[in-house]
Amino acid sequence: MDSLLDVRHNIPWRQAVVSVDQFSRTDIEEIFSLADRLAVGRTMPLTGKCIVNLFYEPSTRTSSSFYAAMTRLGGSVIPINEVNYSSVTKGESLEDTIRTLECYADAIVMRHFDDDASERAAAVASIPVINAGSGAAEHPTQALLDLYTIQKERGCVDGLTVTMMGDLRYGRTVHSLTKLLRLYDTTLKFVSPRELAMPPDYLSAGDEQSNDIDDVIGNTDVLYVTRVQRERLSKEIAIDDSFSVDFAYSVTRDHMARAKEDMVLMHPLPRVGEIPSELDSDPRAAYFRQMRYGLHVRMALLVAMIGRD
Ligand code: NCD
Repeated sequence: MDSLLDVRHNIPWRQAVVSVDQFSRTDIEEIFSLADRLAVGRTMPLTGKCIVNLFYEPSTRTSSSFYAAMTRLGGSVIPINEVNYSSVTKGESLEDTIRTLECYADAIVMRHFDDDASERAAAVASIPVINAGSGAAEHPTQALLDLYTIQKERGCVDGLTVTMMGDLRYGRTVHSLTKLLRLYDTTLKFVSPRELAMPPDYLSAGDEQSNDIDDVIGNTDVLYVTRVQRERLSKEIAIDDSFSVDFAYSVTRDHMARAKEDMVLMHPLPRVGEIPSELDSDPRAAYFRQMRYGLHVRMALLVAMIGRD
């Protein structure tokens, strides 16, 4: 395990993105300014380059946005979106799969159900690995695009109060975003049922925890909503009639009426009832713009990581 922790803390992010722990504010500014430029540019700096999309878990946005980012930059993609049709079903180890794919590509974008999968992949890979979601632990590229969205929508991140609501225990996006926001002067509030509270490792003095959005909605600048990660709920939290949190943690018109006029409403998506579609036309609903910002951030990461020979 020590060697895996070494990977997380010692590898520069240009070689492998496994965790948000690898980024400083200066790194983030650099990625965001590259994203700004690529959003309006027409250049193809990745012509002749190739990435593999290696997804052991379902994905719509992350896999297709990396695909779109790569092809818009002139490169190509080997999509392994359904590992059931690959040698993984024959019992091939993750390490051997990585050693195979690095023979064909310039980077591997990987989503996996194990928390330490991207560290394991980065430890054996000779090409950049990008963590596109690892178990309940991290989703660093989502956190970067979430932060970019906040900056774009509000102009800056410092000084804001960010409230995260929903499944804070198993949601990897909120874990990565929380760590990234610690680099800024933000106030963090966490709203969840007790069973799905933010794990203590991510908490800091000054954070506010509540099980009721009404306690915090009026003071919130960014409301980041997540779905319950049913596929990750442990046996101790049985999914039965006595534990139905899905709709108890949804945003309503009434909440929006009491929210600040310039509040930003975000969601990594997919949503499954936490934000009703009747709120989509509210100018504060940023979750569709968030996906577009994500394309630009992923373009920037690809150029920074494999754009130079
Ligand atoms: C998230 C994920 O995979 O963690 N999806 C995404 O990448 N936008 C959020 C989720 O699945 O709830």
